[in-house]
Amino acid sequence: MRDPGDELHDLEAGGLRRRLRQIDSPQGVHVRLTGSGECLNFSSNDYLGLANDGALKAIYQNHIGTYGVGSGSSRLVCGTMAAHVALEEKIASLKRTEAALTFTSGFAAATGALPSLCGKDDFLILDKLCHASLIDGARLSGATIRIYPHNDLNRLTSHLQWAAQRAAATSRLVVVTESVFSMDGDLAPLAEIVELKDQYGALLLVDEAHAFGVLGPEGRGLGAALGLESRIDLQMGTFSKAVGLSGGYLCGSRAMADLLINRARSFIYSTAPGPALAATVRDALDLVCGPRGDILREGLSANRETFSPGTPSAIIPVIIGENEAALSASARLQERGFLVPAIRFPTVPKGSARLRITLSAAHRPDDITSLKSALADIVKTDYDPLP
Ligand SMILES: Cc1ncc(COP(=O)(O)O)c(C=O)c1O
Repeated sequence: MRDPGDELHDLEAGGLRRRLRQIDSPQGVHVRLTGSGECLNFSSNDYLGLANDGALKAIYQNHIGTYGVGSGSSRLVCGTMAAHVALEEKIASLKRTEAALTFTSGFAAATGALPSLCGKDDFLILDKLCHASLIDGARLSGATIRIYPHNDLNRLTSHLQWAAQRAAATSRLVVVTESVFSMDGDLAPLAEIVELKDQYGALLLVDEAHAFGVLGPEGRGLGAALGLESRIDLQMGTFSKAVGLSGGYLCGSRAMADLLINRARSFIYSTAPGPALAATVRDALDLVCGPRGDILREGLSANRETFSPGTPSAIIPVIIGENEAALSASARLQERGFLVPAIRFPTVPKGSARLRITLSAAHRPDDITSLKSALADIVKTDYDPLP
């Protein structure tokens, strides 16, 4: 039998061992790392700086008083409370869909959705850079899986042709992509993907985890920015990034939401998110998609421009290549007071270890220029992502 210690040793030797890093302060652009003191945080997905927002904290406390802290059971037993229904109505209305279903996390939404939609007679076609939750959901489904190189529409087309030729009359073809890719920060060609999936009679699931709250009118995502919401069969996302809290969602037709209620195992067999959390997320959506959200998005956009003009999202990868080099760049940045962890395989492909820089509306312009100058000193690479 393999010894866990040997396995950890192998991970260490390959520069792939992960360790938890403890933070002694609330989340924010300034965090206090146990043992290393205060750092400027460029690694969080709290894009609008809401994770420790005073107004949201007060709202949460208030909802705890109204709803209590626990939900008692899964949604289908006795855990569906008014707060969950109100949240689902809100996110469905923001996404312009008939219905929505919420989950404990985005990960649970993905692993619940794909096996609900697809089984062994169906076909799932995913972008190569799709998040682990989508890949795991695809694997759990038992469907035939095809992966296309990142954003490669020709290969997406040939996979659709291939699947359409083999599909039975009742088979489903489902295309899966992110809108903003989590480790590269680039955008999917959604307009073209929507055309293709329609041409082949496929369904489309778009994970807007890193776009919701950041892109589009009212921060409603890339689908909304491109006017494509009504053509995307399932809009997925999470409340754990720009919304500052936690929980996943899937928005689509009423029938689609009802199918998920009946089939999504991560929904059926898991205790409902706490009602005070659901109610706070509902109110956070008013904030994120309202005037204050617009101001925060303007700040975030200005920060994106300061870091790198024209950057399409709040995620900026600095590709280093080898694991050890990425770890060493991250350690040197930390010595200078910047928290930018190294991202390695299997989160990103082998040989593309990187620093993943994320910007927040709460960063000040000085924070960004000082990170840029530290990067210029520390990162010596032939790939130069900086202007
Ligand atoms: C693209 C993408 N999808 C889904 C998830 C999962 O969301 P959550 O953190 O809410 O589980 C993440 C976040 O880690 C993500 O980056």
